[in-house]
Amino acid sequence: MTDNNLFYIFGSMKILIKNIQQLLQVRDTAPTRVVGSEMKSLPRIDNAWLLLEDGFIADYGTMESMPHIQAEKVIDASGKLVLPTWCDSHTHLVYSGNREQEFVDRINGLSYQEIAERGGGIINSAKKLQQTSEEDLYDQSVIRLKEVMQLGTGAIEIKSGYGLTTEAELKMLRVAQKLGNDHPIEVKTTFLGAHALPLEYKNDKDAYLDLIINEMMPKVHEVQLASFVDIFCEDGYFSVEDTNRLLNAAKSYGLKPKIHVNQFNAIGGVQIGVEHKALSVDHLEVMRPEDIEALQHSNTMPVALPSCSYFLSIPYTPGREIIDAGLPLALATDYNPGSSPSGNMNFVVSTACIKMKLSPEEAINAATINGAYAMDISDTHGSITKGKVASVIITKEVPSYGYLPYAFGSQLIDQVIIQGELIK
Ligand code: NIG
Ligand code: FE
Repeated sequence: MTDNNLFYIFGSMKILIKNIQQLLQVRDTAPTRVVGSEMKSLPRIDNAWLLLEDGFIADYGTMESMPHIQAEKVIDASGKLVLPTWCDSHTHLVYSGNREQEFVDRINGLSYQEIAERGGGIINSAKKLQQTSEEDLYDQSVIRLKEVMQLGTGAIEIKSGYGLTTEAELKMLRVAQKLGNDHPIEVKTTFLGAHALPLEYKNDKDAYLDLIINEMMPKVHEVQLASFVDIFCEDGYFSVEDTNRLLNAAKSYGLKPKIHVNQFNAIGGVQIGVEHKALSVDHLEVMRPEDIEALQHSNTMPVALPSCSYFLSIPYTPGREIIDAGLPLALATDYNPGSSPSGNMNFVVSTACIKMKLSPEEAINAATINGAYAMDISDTHGSITKGKVASVIITKEVPSYGYLPYAFGSQLIDQVIIQGELIK
């Protein structure tokens, strides 16, 4: 099942990257996240070198003061930028089939919610996934994983939530974990059994929550299949009370909350997330002043998913207001077949600048260090810091880092190194 011929194995090598036009997101002591006006600053070294050794960042500096270094591999990055790989903290990358028919239905006038009410949407994906073998699911998903690695993603969160039965939810999580084990990329998994109500439970939501809490969660915990728990807190899906119940249960299994809130309606999902010390609250397309306020007294990371807004033609998360309120912000793709069939973090960074009015510095911080925070991995990912994992993007020759979001749609990545391995 595994196909590793995509990679040159560099693993335990010394890789020297020299003559770097700009080395970005350099932090000698890395913060866990950057907040509010701090996001405006993107520390960098001009005309730099970077040494990667045994899969970790060993050292860096300016070319003028580069010591003599004996390296197995030397890369000349003249005219190019080097930055940490993207940290995509919200995806549903493991899924079966696609939903291009619903895409056409929406073009013809149906809304996302109307499609869901007709048995399409998440339920449609769940039906397909339940009928797909574990091996086939892996084979479909690995194509997407390799694609996003080539697009510069070096750490990724993957959710379950298209299973909606115990067996199928566990199958999804096993596939997600295996993807991480088979490839040089950090994969964090999230249990999202409460993504939608299966048809069999249409009139008995509590019975489905019972199943999640009493059967699925203990099994997920038993084999350590997930680090996080998620729920779709939204009108027509799961209420604030349901969310409270689920997150209370998750606590005893050590599953930290990262939850879907405020996508179509603000019903108090942010508040319940903050109350449960959620690592992140994601979507936030519809925000009230009290939602911003609730986040101001928390360590919860707000996560915006601009390619979902783009694809569904729904409002963009008010990222500008969130940052101006002194809050941090992370950016992620939401890669899934229904609302964001794209895992391209470069597009997300561009769209955040164009549509949410983030500056390039803010967008890059949101897609690296703050994305790492939203996966609980900012001690190892998200910045150029000695001892962190050797995961970097080397761009093509570009005039400046502002060019990356500006030239949206251009493929500006030359090489990607993840965990010290060159991805080809
Ligand atoms: O994050 N909103 C809930 N879940 C996904 C979409 C699921 C789907 O349509 O398949 C999201 O947008
Ligand atoms: Fe999502």
